[in-house]
Amino acid sequence: MTTTPNPPAGTAPDIAIEARGLRKAYGDKTVLDGIDLSVPAGTVFSLLGPNGAGKTTAVQILSTLIGADGGEARVAGHDLAAAPQAVRAAIGVTGQFSAVDNLITGEENMLLMADLHHLGRSERRSVTAELLERFDLTEAARKPASTYSGGMRRRLDIAMTLVGRPRVIFLDEPTTGLDPRARNATWGVIRELVAGGVTVFLTTQYLDEADELADRIALLNGGRLVAQGTPGELKRLVPGGHVRLRFTDPAAYENAARALTGSARDDEALALQIPSDGTQRELRAILDWLDAVDVAADELTVHTPDLDDVFFALTGPESGPTVPAPARTKSAEENAR
Ligand SMILES: Nc1ncnc2c1ncn2[C@@H]1O[C@H](COP(=O)(O)OP(=O)(O)OP(=O)(O)O)[C@@H](O)[C@H]1O
Ligand SMILES: [Mg+2]
Repeated sequence: MTTTPNPPAGTAPDIAIEARGLRKAYGDKTVLDGIDLSVPAGTVFSLLGPNGAGKTTAVQILSTLIGADGGEARVAGHDLAAAPQAVRAAIGVTGQFSAVDNLITGEENMLLMADLHHLGRSERRSVTAELLERFDLTEAARKPASTYSGGMRRRLDIAMTLVGRPRVIFLDEPTTGLDPRARNATWGVIRELVAGGVTVFLTTQYLDEADELADRIALLNGGRLVAQGTPGELKRLVPGGHVRLRFTDPAAYENAARALTGSARDDEALALQIPSDGTQRELRAILDWLDAVDVAADELTVHTPDLDDVFFALTGPESGPTVPAPARTKSAEENAR
């Protein structure tokens, strides 16, 4: 595999995917309402959004499978509208729904892909064998794909995407339905590809997957990107960090609730929540406070906002321009009512 060297300091990195004002409507339903993106080469970009948000539509447009109604994009250095063939030659796509032909074997599926990419006689065999091995499919290679489990078919699908050694890969929910081991293996492959300079455009329903893999994440909702940034930047967008104190004795809980003014009550769980950014300094201050007011909780946990909080806050049906508190964390005001 060839590698792309890091750009020298001071020069802008290569941009693998760049889109400006992408629009798409089906009938009178606007799916994408002006999308701007910029993905540096050799990074993982993850597009998140609720079902029907338009993630697959974005993948289909950027991979030339369907046309946009407006806007422009460049992928792997080629203009989508002017040079779709050049874009196609540089990319690989694993769709949300499998491209595997179930009537033939895994190996035959791979060889068919190799032929589509015009690989030579020996190369088609070596590339196929190497990828089947990498995805743990060597043993099953000569069996019809119809006999594969869902996870095996998914792995074959991704292996087929890599046959043409693409520089930019679109993976539309690549790990949906995979067991934890197969998911981890897929993550490993994605990291390896990126280390080799490949750019990955990933959609996923698993927020931990985006957190784990993505350099940048964008959240699609209502046709627009409602947030974009590193996983850390997105988490800082929503409130929700707190220290949670749980009690088993109702009397101790009541005493603590009286002493800890400003904490939010969860009477059912006998738990108090103290807003906190989770830093060492704040934790120390909270512990000192607990000592000072003589409160000893039975359990103390620190909750930092995760991508789930961001997702719920920014893609809920009632989410507007202001960022509401995540549904799972009651605010102090709500609890005081
Ligand atoms: N060919 C089509 N004709 C009409 N409507 C379509 C077509 N393809 C997609 N849509 C609509 O466009 C919207 C976006 O669909 P899309 O598949 O891009 O969503 P998604 O974010 O990938 O969702 P999911 O998480 O369920 O995969 C949906 O409302 C869908 O019904
Ligand atoms: Mg989809």
